[in-house]
Parts: sequence; structure tokens; C-alpha cells
Amino acid sequence: MRGTGGKEWEGSRATGLSTPCAIVSQANSSIESSNSRAGRFRKRTPARLELQSPARTPPQAGASGPAARAPHSVPSVEATPLQPPFDSSTFLSIAGVILFESTGVLVIAGKIIALIDWREHDLPRMKRMLSMIGWVAAAWALCGCGPSSSPQTPTGTNRTSKAPAKKSKYIIGMSQCNLGEPWRVQMNADIRAAAAKHPELEVVFKDAQNDTLKQRAHVEEFVSAGVDLILISPKEAQPLTEPVARAVDAGIPVIVLDRRLLGDKYTCFIGADNRKIGRAAGKWIVRKLGGKGNVVELKGLMTSTPAQDRHAGFREAIAGTDIKVIFEADMKWLEPEARKEMESALARFNKIDLVYAHNDPGAHGAYLAAKAAGREKEMLFVGIDALPQEGVAYVRQGILSATFQYPTGGAEAIETALKILHGEKVPKEITLGSRIFTKENVDRGGDPIP
Ligand code: FRU
Repeated sequence: MRGTGGKEWEGSRATGLSTPCAIVSQANSSIESSNSRAGRFRKRTPARLELQSPARTPPQAGASGPAARAPHSVPSVEATPLQPPFDSSTFLSIAGVILFESTGVLVIAGKIIALIDWREHDLPRMKRMLSMIGWVAAAWALCGCGPSSSPQTPTGTNRTSKAPAKKSKYIIGMSQCNLGEPWRVQMNADIRAAAAKHPELEVVFKDAQNDTLKQRAHVEEFVSAGVDLILISPKEAQPLTEPVARAVDAGIPVIVLDRRLLGDKYTCFIGADNRKIGRAAGKWIVRKLGGKGNVVELKGLMTSTPAQDRHAGFREAIAGTDIKVIFEADMKWLEPEARKEMESALARFNKIDLVYAHNDPGAHGAYLAAKAAGREKEMLFVGIDALPQEGVAYVRQGILSATFQYPTGGAEAIETALKILHGEKVPKEITLGSRIFTKENVDRGGDPIP
């Protein structure tokens, strides 16, 4: 099998499957593919699965070293320019391949010579023959037609170091934790739009439908199908940590989007700073309420990191003020849950000054509950996400007093994936910026949060 060995990792992996592999589709999970190739992708025979390399090169220090951790501001969404075909590392790699291939060919040549009747052939003729074989071997290696130059150790690691060979097609598996919320639909749309600018990329989307076990299975399927790279926006941190770590062990680069995992066994994390957003929301609320008041906090799924951080940042900002959180509940990021929880809050408290929800669907659910109780004018509603068609529209309509932008990172994910696939170094963490939208600044596109 050619090229299954991972090559040099620079926060990345050289994949090397010579053709796209099959993804096993699950009856109960939705799968779609970018670049109109979903059908072709699904039809591949299971036999291709045998191409999966049992051993891929795990990421090395470059991916997680301190330098790689330097936080980034919002990166540009421009397509990554292709590198010139023969930089020094490529040259070295080719030389290495030639060396390795030639060794094998020399062995074969020796065997051929042994079969030749020496009495009938003079030495110069022999030399010519050997040199011809050498040239054929070199050409073979240069074309990349030779057998794998990456012998694998029994533990599955790969000892050779070689820049990743450019491929004409890369398969990216994208596991989305659910598509029930507009923000996630937007993330997939951003990924799809960015990938469409690169015909060599094919993204296979899977929707875990808010089911952690399903999402674990998706990651495992991507690994056994031998995709070139995995994108994942995990539902929860803990249960998705292990399958992602196994993907990395198998040599597949993984970009984690928006919600974090535990530890640092992934290639790159892309997302906004949720603690900072929570703190900005808290500071804004303190100012707006003049430092005192009764607040309801509707938290996102607390087993996911954005909820933990939005909570912690908010509490940090209101500490020492007379803002009291009189009711808090986990609405799991879901509007109907938020509405239900808000009904309880309304039933228990006569005076609520403000609802801080960890996302805009949550804030909207709370608003609907208050409206149904005829109390929506008594309080303010603050959310996070600021999708133009959702949170920002609510601000324009006077439903929300403020929303804080939470960018999807979809375009940055594709930009980073391309770098990884081309063997470039990427930071361990890419931090996206955020903006606040209120009725005062919405017409000018909000303001950045400091
Ligand atoms: C969508 C969502 C967003 C939120 C993000 C946090 O599922 O709930 O509203 O900002 O996830 O991960």
C-alpha cells in the first residue's frame, strides 16, 4: 500500500492514502458531502477500508509546543497559497525516497545479475545495465509509483520523515454535534462555502443529532475510513476526548471547533474566548443595571466548555456588586428548555430585572415565557451568538437588549485544514474575536469587545 505512512508532522500529518476511502454511513445519522460528491463517496466499496493504515504518524512537539500555543486574533479567511513544488524539505524527501527505492532495486538487480551467465556478458555491459536500472528506479520513485518508503514499527509509528505528498483530493470528515440550532447550520454553511473555493477538498458532514454516542461513533468511522483530516464541534468535552485522542494516535489531524475537549490531544482548537465573552456580558449588565438587581442566569449545557466559561466570566464580572443571581438553570443550549426553566423562574420571583442566557435561543425562549406571562416589559434579555438572522435581528426588534457575537470559525477551520494538509505549521489554538450588538450600535455593525 503506497504512502500510508505518515510523514513529517508540523502540527499536521501527511496522510497519504492514494485514493479517497469509504465512509461507512449510519442509518440514523445524517451524512452529506461538499463538492457534490456525496453519492460517489457513499458508494465506495468496503474493500477500500482495507487501505486504512493501521499506523499513522502521531503529531509531534511542533503541534503542541509553547510557540504553537500563541493565541491568534481573527485570522484571514483567504485561501492558503500553494507552496512551490520543490522547497528544500521536498528536495530532501525526494532524495530520501530515491535512496530507499534504489536500495530495493539494487537487491533486485543483484538477483537478475546472478541469473545471467557471466561468460556471455562483459563488465562494461553489466555496468550499463545497472545504471539503467538505477535511472528507472529514480524515475519510479520521483513519480511516487514505488512501494511505501515508510516502513512501520510494530507499535504503528512511522520512523521516516518526509514532507506530505500533495494529493489531488483530500477528504475532510466534519462531525457536527447537532443541526437543530441556526448557529450550527451556519457553521456548516461557513465550512461548505470555504471548502467550495478549493476543489481538491471534499467535506463529508455528519450530524450527531445532539447524541454524544453517535458523535463518538462518527469520529471512529472517520478514523477507520482513513479521512485526511477531521473537524469536530463536540457536544461535550469528556466523552469526545478519547475518540479524538485515538484519531490523533492514528495519525489523523483533528481541528476542534467552538467547544473544547479535555487535555490537549488534538491538532488545533479554533473558537472565541468564552470567558472573555461572559465577562464582557457581566460588565455590560452591571453598567446597565447600575450595579444592582435580580438576574436569572440560563446556562448552556454545563458539560460543554462554552457554558462553563460563559458562566465563570459572568460571575467574575458581577462579583462584589449588588447584582444577585436569584435563579439559575441548565437549559442545555435549547430554546424550549430555556422557556420551561424561565416559567419556573417567573412562578417563583415577582421581580426579575434581567435574564442572562448563554445563547440567543435561550434568551429568546426566556422572552417567550415572560411574554406569555405578560411580564416581558418588566425585564431585559441578554444573549450570546449574534447571528444576523437571529440575535442581531432580536436586538433590532427590541427583544434582546444586547447580544455578544460568537463566530462559528467555519472559514478559519478550512483555512487551517489546508495548511495542515500541506504540511505547514499551525498554532495549537486560534482565538476568534467577538463583538457586542445593542440598539445603539447595531446599525454600524456592533463594536468589538475589548
Ligand atoms: C449551538 C450553540 C450556540 C452556542 C454554542 C456553544 O449549538 O448552543 O448557540 O453559542 O453552541 O457551543
